[in-house]
Amino acid sequence: MKDQEFINRKADHIRYSLAKEAEAVESGTLHHWSLVHDSLPDLDLGEISLESLWFGAPKPNPFFIAGMTAGHPDAKIINERLARAASERGWAMGVGSQRRELDSEFKDSAVQSLRKQNPDLFLISNLGIAQLIEIHERGSWNLLFDLLERSGSSALAIHLNPLQEAIQPEGTPRFKNGWIAIRELAHRLKIPLIVKETGSGMSRKFMDRISQLPIAAVDVSGLGGTHWGRVEGLRAGEGTISHELGATFANWGVPVAESILNAKGAFSKSQKTAILASGGIRTGLDAAKCLALGASAVGFAKPALEAALQGDRPLQQWMEKIESELRVAMFCTGAGSVPELALDKIERRDHD
Ligand SMILES: Cc1cc2nc3c(=O)[nH]c(=O)nc-3n(C[C@H](O)[C@H](O)[C@H](O)COP(=O)(O)O)c2cc1C
Repeated sequence: MKDQEFINRKADHIRYSLAKEAEAVESGTLHHWSLVHDSLPDLDLGEISLESLWFGAPKPNPFFIAGMTAGHPDAKIINERLARAASERGWAMGVGSQRRELDSEFKDSAVQSLRKQNPDLFLISNLGIAQLIEIHERGSWNLLFDLLERSGSSALAIHLNPLQEAIQPEGTPRFKNGWIAIRELAHRLKIPLIVKETGSGMSRKFMDRISQLPIAAVDVSGLGGTHWGRVEGLRAGEGTISHELGATFANWGVPVAESILNAKGAFSKSQKTAILASGGIRTGLDAAKCLALGASAVGFAKPALEAALQGDRPLQQWMEKIESELRVAMFCTGAGSVPELALDKIERRDHD
């Protein structure tokens, strides 16, 4: 019964996150930023390189698929498509929470087979902070490290989602001792540790504190795209308190551009912590703006899900479109390489 409830919840998340009302588009602020047009870029479109550094290693482009729900039958097909396409195009890929797979008795390890089918994929495992706190309290680190071993994980993302857990009727809003648990994990983990939000972004105060920990990256997952207050409100349905909460907190969070700048301001120049940007990134032009603001890679959740639901070919075409949009943005700003897409190529437009 519990399993069935879990499967239903994950199916609901996919369904409701695809709804237009689940996106906090109007609170995103990327439209306040413009790349600076260069009428005579001193380069050819064909020579532009999207190559970027990904945890110290070169990768063909600066993109990743942000982690999305695993754990029910449809998710398996979606994740297989995403992994195949990501592997082919050199994108990295996150999976959704692997909470259920923590139990080694859980035989249906979908992530394990993703790894087997895509040996070269940079595969990011995923777990919620509530599970990490529990592991820390019980000292059951082996459960986690066994899971990562079985999954062939290239990195681990710990997701932070206080708003969702507070609004979700079955949520686990237990975050006390989260900082200690992350610190302990950062010292024990042998693969890169990414701390990610889930669509509500990260404040300067949070960045100041996280910058003290030896983590490999933050994924800011800012306000402006899929919003989990809204998703849980929609899921709970009219007439429920969760629905009311979803409406009250519909624009809660730190927009993606501000979140990137918060990280940039907090991380020292010598700090190696990478800034990953996601949350409302819908085009390669949005991605270009995030890179210019200071991100080193850019991630997509909902648009990748939508494309994957249409099939392998539409997914590949969508990825190709994103890469082309980034290339055109770089050409028209005169940036021949991703590192050249920097703060001097972007400006804030305060008039709208
Ligand atoms: C269907 C769906 C399921 C998700 N499940 C997870 C999850 O299990 N773990 C996680 O860290 N983030 C999860 N996310 C959040 C995304 O990784 C991302 O942070 C957020 O959706 C914002 O990106 P977007 O605006 O491009 O959708 C999920 C997103 C979607 C759309």
